[in-house]
Amino acid sequence: MNRVNRILENKTFKSTLDALAKAEKDRIFCKHNIDHLLDVARIMYIFSLENNISLDKEIIYATALLHDIGRERAYRLHTDHAVESGKIANEILAECGFSFDEIEKITSAVSHHNDKENADELCKILRFADKKSRNCFMCSAYSECNWSEDKKNRGIKL
Ligand SMILES: [Fe+2]
Repeated sequence: MNRVNRILENKTFKSTLDALAKAEKDRIFCKHNIDHLLDVARIMYIFSLENNISLDKEIIYATALLHDIGRERAYRLHTDHAVESGKIANEILAECGFSFDEIEKITSAVSHHNDKENADELCKILRFADKKSRNCFMCSAYSECNWSEDKKNRGIKL
């Protein structure tokens, strides 16, 4: 089994995503479920191919799958979801066979993905894909969403 599938089978990953689904059951804005996580992974990979950025596919998928894993804890504790995600990602990655250096690279991108100043390539691609993954143009909560007009995806950019 490749390490990305080990993440999908990981006990902490599964229970944390379940808890997040419950916490977001009545949320009218974008949810952070497996569809979102995989959309982000695929956009990151396509972007890296189109821009000749050499990043390992497993690293991209692991980063995307784990980038919001701390959201449920952040809702409960009123803390930063990116930082919480980095902490939980650290545990999961170690259990799924990632090396120390890989864990450092992934958790750093995850922990800082809300920080516009962070210039790390993996982090920048994650931030880009995270925003582009949202279908604002078909969203029923468009007018209540606090994203600025230029951040919202008002169409499909080719
Ligand atoms: Fe996200």
